[in-house]
Amino acid sequence: MQTFLRGRDLIGDLDFSKEEVETVLEVAFDLKRQRALNQLHPILRDKVLAMLFFFSSTRTRGSFEAGIAQLGGHGAFIESRTTQIAHGDTPKEIGEIFGRYFDGIAIRHVDWGIGNGYLNAVAKASRVPVLNMQCDIYHPFQILADLMTIMEKKGRDLRRKKMVVSWAYAASYQKPMSVPQSLILQMPRFGMDVVLAHPPEFKLMPGIMEQAREQAKKFGAGFEVVDDMDAAFKDADIIYAKSWGAMVHTPDEKEGAKIISKYASWITDERRMKLAKPDAIYMHPLPADRNIEVTDGVMDGPQSVVYDEAENRLHAQKAVMALTMS
Ligand code: CP
Repeated sequence: MQTFLRGRDLIGDLDFSKEEVETVLEVAFDLKRQRALNQLHPILRDKVLAMLFFFSSTRTRGSFEAGIAQLGGHGAFIESRTTQIAHGDTPKEIGEIFGRYFDGIAIRHVDWGIGNGYLNAVAKASRVPVLNMQCDIYHPFQILADLMTIMEKKGRDLRRKKMVVSWAYAASYQKPMSVPQSLILQMPRFGMDVVLAHPPEFKLMPGIMEQAREQAKKFGAGFEVVDDMDAAFKDADIIYAKSWGAMVHTPDEKEGAKIISKYASWITDERRMKLAKPDAIYMHPLPADRNIEVTDGVMDGPQSVVYDEAENRLHAQKAVMALTMS
């Protein structure tokens, strides 16, 4: 166990070594057990987490705010539009100043080409840990919760399990690519054979793909890219299908929306789920475009683990806060 995480940032999935991620998971499972037994665990009594949002959220806000309170601290919910950021507060000033008020700074900033740079600039100036509540490149806390959920459903030894990370059609908006990118970085470290499926225009960032291949090689896992959703689903143990935008192909939003409209057949439905193993699980970080991205039948069906996945955000985030902010 690598237990000394005090003061560390978590911005990218590879910021923590595999051993450190295992420590986070051990602590998360323990905190989940303690909560089930109504055992109080005020590890961060009187500590305050700044929660700075540049983009909307249901799960991330709720789980961070509940989590810090359950650890005995307080979460300060701050929407960027209510701050002086638009009037000139720089990331350096936010890091310097919030670092003096708070014991941790959590930020969500998903603007393409901006978010990750903003988090790193705040972190450089901050004396306290900076936690990534999702940027344009990574969503590390989602993936920690996903990993916890997969272990609960499939056991701790995940070697040779086939995990499909698939693009899916959505009509609502061009979603960030941070979830698939974080999945392909983290999951191969735990031995899962990852199959990434997407239409040609939905490539992920080349640097992330390179790092994912390196992780797969290092940990003896498979990593394959296909452009056929049916072929990907065949004999899979874990189906993780969600939409993301065509930002790598084109930064133009109108052009991106036109490309998305070509692929309305990329939906997770009952027929496709039958291509996977009978005990395959269906995962989605939510929010989802119901009956566009995934049918109600799959989302609400027996193979869906989306609510456990959402719950585990709470436990995984509490573990990281307890380890980094204590
Ligand atoms: N999965 C996730 O991050 O949900 P929110 O966007 O609601 O926070």
